[in-house]
Amino acid sequence: MALDFPTGQEARALVEELGDAVTFYKVGMELFYSEGPAIVSYLKEQGKKVFLDLKLQDIPNTVAHSLAVLTRLGVDIMNVHAVGGPKMMAEGMNAIREAAEKLCVAAPKLIAVTILTSMDEAQWAPLGYAKPIGEEVLALAALAKESGLSGVVASPREAEAIRKACGSDFLIVTPGIRPTWAAANDQSRIATPSMAMKNGSTHLVVGRPITKAENKIDAVNRILKEMEGALHE
Ligand code: C5P
Repeated sequence: MALDFPTGQEARALVEELGDAVTFYKVGMELFYSEGPAIVSYLKEQGKKVFLDLKLQDIPNTVAHSLAVLTRLGVDIMNVHAVGGPKMMAEGMNAIREAAEKLCVAAPKLIAVTILTSMDEAQWAPLGYAKPIGEEVLALAALAKESGLSGVVASPREAEAIRKACGSDFLIVTPGIRPTWAAANDQSRIATPSMAMKNGSTHLVVGRPITKAENKIDAVNRILKEMEGALHE
């Protein structure tokens, strides 16, 4: 569940409202820039898992040092942009391992953003990449794997090809999830929870279909039921 809020107060209110229904939260730039590490500590105190979605991209040295500092927060998953390159990803991974060893904590998993799920062909074409989005996503996923990362963030529509290319233990975290009863908003390469699971997603990131729902717990339960149903089909 994506905690896309400008204040900790709103985020905490939602976490309290959802209670045990949601166990894994994604903290993105908006909330982290507003609240800092305190919001992560709060979620950990509530017994929640945390995906810190800060999408780091800078020179390898800066990313490695930043990831080492973030490792202190005790989150479960962190991420970088794959287009930062193999050196940036590999050095980032090493920095996390070393920091976790020093702190005697489990190393958070590092995953790479391939291409943002809000990208469509109209947004993609002016960037001048030679490959179509789908092919570029696969190449970046393979690069992330070769660089030692645990998985990728990608569109649920690309999950099947990534699963085939990167093997069964590769994490595929997919935003752009839209149940049939929710609005698409600014997401382009979207899929229903059931399609995403069938395509091989390991984690679904859902924001507005829950935050904009009239009955949020009901929305969570409907999505969870659809995910579970897809596993048994
Ligand atoms: O509200 P919605 O369900 O679209 O939220 C999706 C979440 O996933 C947002 O927090 C967004 O920043 C994030 N995200 C994304 N596409 C990516 C990576 C992260 O939509 N490639």
